Amino acid sequence: MSDIHNSVCELSVQVETIRIVQLTDTHLKTHDGGKLLGLDTDYSLQAVVDLANKEYPKPDFVLGTGDLADSGAGDAYRRLIGYFDQVSPEHFWLPGNHDLRDVMIEVGGAERVPGEIRVGAWQIVMLDSQLPGEVGGHLGRPELQRLEECLNAGAEAQLHTLICLHHQPVPIGCEWLDEQMVSDADSFFEILGRYPRVRGLLWGHVHQELDKYREDLRLLCTPSTCVQFLPGQQDFAVDTQAPGYRWLELDADGAIRTDVSRAVSQIFPVDREASGYL
Ligand SMILES: [Fe+2]
Repeated sequence: MSDIHNSVCELSVQVETIRIVQLTDTHLKTHDGGKLLGLDTDYSLQAVVDLANKEYPKPDFVLGTGDLADSGAGDAYRRLIGYFDQVSPEHFWLPGNHDLRDVMIEVGGAERVPGEIRVGAWQIVMLDSQLPGEVGGHLGRPELQRLEECLNAGAEAQLHTLICLHHQPVPIGCEWLDEQMVSDADSFFEILGRYPRVRGLLWGHVHQELDKYREDLRLLCTPSTCVQFLPGQQDFAVDTQAPGYRWLELDADGAIRTDVSRAVSQIFPVDREASGYL
């Protein structure tokens, strides 16, 4: 495990409530204007960025929860910086199955891919659920050990915790996507069960919205800024819903307020007949 994985970014935000925009699964192609399932992912990301700036201006920072580039291209991450900078100069990334962590760090700098962010009364743990060469997610013993170390330190400092990762740690009800959920989720939840200050889990990957509870733990996933997947499906199916983002407000008492917003006023043509996606 490298030091980069363990890096802690401390942000000095002098506010009671931390305001965040999550942008996920941007899938930027190697070249500007490249398309995923018929959709120009630069165009849709710009539309979502414009929407976030209009509705939820000047957040404290942006969280990018994976599949930021569609094939790990350096130019995709360079363009990503330009888009995210329009929302906030502070943005943090974690890798999804389409990303290349080394390229993310090379282009964005190690400080953009931290192991943990400490801000006000909160710690935000950024987990790497990518298994190189695989579509599905896995945390593995070293990452789970790092999580536990973070949670111990956070509990000692009496911080509330939000955990971010790319893959879903619970089934979301799409059979084809749930084959890709975090394969060692049982070990993950066994650890979380010992840390009641963990308030929420936040992920991407499934290109659809979810907001529910597992006992007191808030479970949140967020639409992609490009193509959407139809909820409740056994096999791959594209949804016609618009791209979107999530805003989150983390209060000093541990409460989380959050919602999703979509760019419904624009048309985003998608190839609905597509039979697959990796
Ligand atoms: Fe994705």
